[in-house]
Amino acid sequence: MRPLTRRQLLALGAVGAGATAAGGAGLWLTTGNGPGYTGGKDLAEPQVLASRDGVLELDLTAAPARVRVGEREASVQAFNGSLPGPTLRARAGDTIRVTMRNGLQAPTNLHVHGLHVSPQGNSDNPFVSIDPGGSFDYEFALPGDHPPGTYWYHPHRHGHVAGQVAAGLYGAIVVEDSDPVPVTRDRVLVVSDLSLDASGNLAEVDQMQQMMGREGELVLVNGQLRPQLRAAPGERERWRLINACPSRYLRLGLEGQGVRLLSRDLGRLPIPEDVTEVVLAPGNRIELLVETRQGASALTAAPVDRGNMNGMMGGAMRGANVPGGDPVELLTLAVSGSADADPGPVPEGRPLRDLRNEPVIAARTLDFAMGMNGNMGRGMGNGQGARMAFTINGREFDPERLDESVAAGTVEEWILTNSSPMDHPIHLHVWPMQIVQDGDRDVTEPKWQDVVNVPARSKVKVRVAFDDFAGRTVIHCHILDHEDQGMMATVQAR
Ligand code: C2O
Ligand code: CU
Ligand code: CU
Repeated sequence: MRPLTRRQLLALGAVGAGATAAGGAGLWLTTGNGPGYTGGKDLAEPQVLASRDGVLELDLTAAPARVRVGEREASVQAFNGSLPGPTLRARAGDTIRVTMRNGLQAPTNLHVHGLHVSPQGNSDNPFVSIDPGGSFDYEFALPGDHPPGTYWYHPHRHGHVAGQVAAGLYGAIVVEDSDPVPVTRDRVLVVSDLSLDASGNLAEVDQMQQMMGREGELVLVNGQLRPQLRAAPGERERWRLINACPSRYLRLGLEGQGVRLLSRDLGRLPIPEDVTEVVLAPGNRIELLVETRQGASALTAAPVDRGNMNGMMGGAMRGANVPGGDPVELLTLAVSGSADADPGPVPEGRPLRDLRNEPVIAARTLDFAMGMNGNMGRGMGNGQGARMAFTINGREFDPERLDESVAAGTVEEWILTNSSPMDHPIHLHVWPMQIVQDGDRDVTEPKWQDVVNVPARSKVKVRVAFDDFAGRTVIHCHILDHEDQGMMATVQAR
């Protein structure tokens, strides 16, 4: 993160604000997230819309909005005027109907990230385009055995995805458990980032930032800057964390509290795992069980080295590293008062499906690459000449082209290779992936995710069961700037 100038700090309302007593002043003076900002407002959660009798019906309007970020007014884009949009809660077997309206100046659409639903027609179809002023009626029918978990929605109109998500268009989806985990509190925590200019508008993003994947200077939780959570000792909370940042990876830690991992992307782990640190690539979700202990703790996001562009562009880009810097404080948790009653044991989840025990019908390799396109001699920075190409198997995205054709109902093994010097978090719609080999290391336990990070100059082997649906969808890098620049391919099951 670039250090802020005094002028920028003034614009943030951070200079001279002083520290307040809320939650222990010292906590707020650490690095990151607008130095000196006192924070400390209680965490707010977006409006919750829950299904009834198997149906959830709602209107979602994507439009410009004025919101408060920290101590300033910001001009963003939001669903139904709030950052994030409403949280949708449904159950396996339910139908979600959304009338999506486009109040933006650019085309958009809606994607339900991670849901196992049909990619066709007016379901989770990434090829839909809604013009400014237009609307579209979506219907998502969740199968009766849909895994519980934390999912999310965001626009997916190719060429506009990074800009619209960065501007504030995202919201949470929860699919309820069939056997509930006893907790004293269930929280949805949507992490996003954005950069504002001095007048509170979204900062311009240059070509270099798009190549790296833009990272916003302010990291928000439910649209708030460093909110505060309160609890009593001995409680068990369930935190549903979503990385809705367009490019930022989050290395999360919560010192001083008991933390167990309950879920990664989809479903739940049979037995929650003790963790001290978890990395979320863009698009990933985790659910944590937080067993509260007396004192004040901060949820922090430490920088992640996701590679750089050194050597990619001759001399032009040397030293241009992906933004890093100090850990960012996302929120604080103040635990005080008298201990609560024991919430009781966590029931064991169902054993996870293991595709290593199932016959593989086909194998294929997808290579994610970056390379120069055009004439380097013209130089960078003038918007002409050389351009970085983001490709899968040597090709940039073409919605009309069929890239990977699979037989519905079969299991395939895919080797995701990354020949570039940056990490790419790879996301397949509709069908989750089981990671079987990470680099040269076999993954012994069944590990399921819908966004799988493929480190720079490395590879990951996954298996996918193309169950339940036919139709055409996409696989892409979830650094949304890379997706918009072409790192996406079509996948058709038939
Ligand atoms: Cu969250 Cu295709 O994306
Ligand atoms: Cu998705
Ligand atoms: Cu990428």
